[in-house]
Amino acid sequence: MKIISVVGARPQFIKLAPLSKEIRKLHNELIIHTGQHFDEDMSKYFFEQLEIPEPDYNLGIRGGNHGEQTGKMLIGLEEVVIKENPDLIIVFGDTNSTLTGSLVAAKLGIKSVHIEAGLRSFNRSMPEEINRIISDHTSDYLFAPTKTAIRNLENEGLSNNAYLTGDIMVDVLMNNIEKAKTNSQILNELNIVSNQYYLLTLHRPYNVDDPKILQKLLNLLSSIDTTIVFPVHPRTNKIITENNLNYSSKIRLIKPVGYLDFISLENNCAKIITDSGGVQKEAYILKKACITIRPETEWVETLEEGWNILISADQADFVEQAVNFNPSHAHRNVFGSNVAAKMVDQIEEILNS
Ligand code: UD1
Ligand code: UDP
Repeated sequence: MKIISVVGARPQFIKLAPLSKEIRKLHNELIIHTGQHFDEDMSKYFFEQLEIPEPDYNLGIRGGNHGEQTGKMLIGLEEVVIKENPDLIIVFGDTNSTLTGSLVAAKLGIKSVHIEAGLRSFNRSMPEEINRIISDHTSDYLFAPTKTAIRNLENEGLSNNAYLTGDIMVDVLMNNIEKAKTNSQILNELNIVSNQYYLLTLHRPYNVDDPKILQKLLNLLSSIDTTIVFPVHPRTNKIITENNLNYSSKIRLIKPVGYLDFISLENNCAKIITDSGGVQKEAYILKKACITIRPETEWVETLEEGWNILISADQADFVEQAVNFNPSHAHRNVFGSNVAAKMVDQIEEILNS
């Protein structure tokens, strides 16, 4: 059978890696890269390091407002899908590339799977929330990472199409953590010591697009008396550079790093401060305290289990919260295991139905 996997952004390459490997044991998989993320350190290096086959097509669509970006992706992807006429299309997560893949499949009447279905922040000002809702309602099969995601799908009348598979990011993390421990030299390269630094990532539009808000966050983070390693997302880098924002020398801004170096930084840090979805999950799986700079999260289990807290730049005690947060010691398996194999079993049933 012919299966098309649609990806475009960094976290999608990471999610694709373990699934692609399993799918290719049984089927002909084509990878279509929309081009959404294009810097070598946001795209190419992930394909190389995670041994993902080169994309069969790269649509080269980058930047632009949401309508322009999504519109161009729809035109480009539809053309390829009509030409290749696959038996199934797989989309991942909640980016504009996800939305595009689901819409093209639905309009062309091709079966589709949405991986990471059922997540909700209940905040429609996030572009991701709109993308997820549309992808869930237009995809034929919904692979949910958590029980909460299943409940969200039930509440929207989608339970007939929903499958609790677990989260594919567990597999990629488990497949690579030992390799990262052995191979990554990032701590030496940065001259930092295990457990004596915090790791920071920021890329949500509401935290970084307004230079005043980003400067406020950098001021707050600058008053933390611990080294903070900050691999800077290109969206954030643009705002910092164009507006000449200030930060203390304790904050070490570096380019985005490869997956092995990043999980090594996560595994060795004292705490993680982030607004990323994937990083919150990895923090939980690696048993790291996570401080999330967001008003809400889709990954509510990480809060409930006591490993994650939400904070905002408007909070007077931002720094105290970040510095003093100590996670719970209890830990349960929220995100599943051997997820790619479960997904492929489910895909076999779908293809044979
Ligand atoms: C996108 C996703 C977001 C996801 C994030 C993962 C949408 C709406 N947003 O956000 O859900 O969490 O990816 O990282 O799909 N840029 C570069 N080089 C790159 C990539 C981006 O310069 O390699 C620039 C773009 O040209 C653009 C900006 O960064 O100006 C934002 O990129 P875009 O892909 O639109 O959104 P992200 O913030 O990356
Ligand atoms: N990541 C990485 N290098 C970095 C920053 C993040 O490899 O410099 C990985 C991280 O391990 C996680 C994923 O990128 O698996 C998260 O992606 P991102 O934060 O861009 O997107 P989100 O998960 O918020 O959609």
